[in-house]
Amino acid sequence: MFNFTNFLSKIKLPFFTGFEVYFDFGTSESKIGIKDKGVVLREPTILAYNSRASEYLFFGNEAKAITGKTPDFIKIIKPVNSGVISDFDAQVALTKKYLERSAHLYFSDQMIKPALTGFAVIPTTATEIEQKALQEALYKSGVSQVFLIEKGLATAAGCNLNIFSHQPNLIVDLGGGLIEIEIVGSGGIISQRTLKTAGENMNKLIFNYIYLKYGVILGEATCEELKVSLLNFFGEEKTVTIRGKSLETGLPKSVKIKSSDIKEALLSNFNQIVDAVKETIESAPPEIIDEIIERGIYITGGLSKIIGIEKFFEQEIKIKMINEQPYLYATINGLSKLAKDKENLSKIIFN
Ligand SMILES: Nc1ncnc2c1ncn2[C@@H]1O[C@H](COP(=O)(O)OP(=O)(O)OP(=O)(O)O)[C@@H](O)[C@H]1O
Ligand SMILES: [Mg+2]
Repeated sequence: MFNFTNFLSKIKLPFFTGFEVYFDFGTSESKIGIKDKGVVLREPTILAYNSRASEYLFFGNEAKAITGKTPDFIKIIKPVNSGVISDFDAQVALTKKYLERSAHLYFSDQMIKPALTGFAVIPTTATEIEQKALQEALYKSGVSQVFLIEKGLATAAGCNLNIFSHQPNLIVDLGGGLIEIEIVGSGGIISQRTLKTAGENMNKLIFNYIYLKYGVILGEATCEELKVSLLNFFGEEKTVTIRGKSLETGLPKSVKIKSSDIKEALLSNFNQIVDAVKETIESAPPEIIDEIIERGIYITGGLSKIIGIEKFFEQEIKIKMINEQPYLYATINGLSKLAKDKENLSKIIFN
């Protein structure tokens, strides 16, 4: 039978072969990929605004490096909150800068710039207004055509799963702004749960814990460093000495923080995730539960890098965990895979 999509994909029209750019604006980190070039940018989703000069000044790594060290008139902005745009103008400025640092480099010597076709992921739970905001932000940043794909589908594809298979899989994306637990199969999301208590929230929990237990005020970056360097589920007790501000005197104060401190601070957050995974399984159609138990649960996202996290989940949920993905790139890699599959694309694009 004549397949029109397949036919179109083979014609070398400029708009179809044009520059395809893939966007995953995560709450913590933005990832940009380009067709046939792989991931070309990974930087924090953060920028700095100078209210005196009324301009955005520092972007990504530079902005993260100055967080907590700026005068009042320089405001640090995280334009994505819980996986969706919370500051539209800042997101446009950041996207423009990130395109300059990535896609634009590939045609800097060309007189006529090729049109950019953008594919971007959006959480399943995003409202129509949030979807529109992402689309508009990309148009305003110079992308000519924008297609949105549900993030859960891209993440599953990035875990090397066939999202069109009739055998569903359960994927848990442990990100910075969202914990997304999704059962994916037959080209769609069969059932899902989303928690907003993800990596960034954990940094806040660490802040509160250290503040209450040791009377020390820490910066956000230090809290994140403690999470990354100390937390593990192997029972390995590491210690680091950090310096914060004493609650009593306001002067610098050093304290020794142990892995067990961080685990205690975050245990209720991890238990919440365990409960949500169990609920997702319980609410899944009975036909697929056996299959999921047999194959195991795929975990990915930044937090899946925590040493021994799969063992912790296995102990609590009693199902095998598969933790093999390039933990920060599953979504962007999956998005580029799905975008290249022109034959099936129309089945999953939802704008
Ligand atoms: N080695 C590590 N150990 C612990 N946590 C880590 C590690 N590496 C990254 N993280 C955490 O992972 C989170 C970022 O993960 P990821 O890049 O998957 O999120 P995101 O895609 O930006 O967010 P989301 O998809 O939820 O909007 C951050 O909270 C970061 O602190
Ligand atoms: Mg993510």
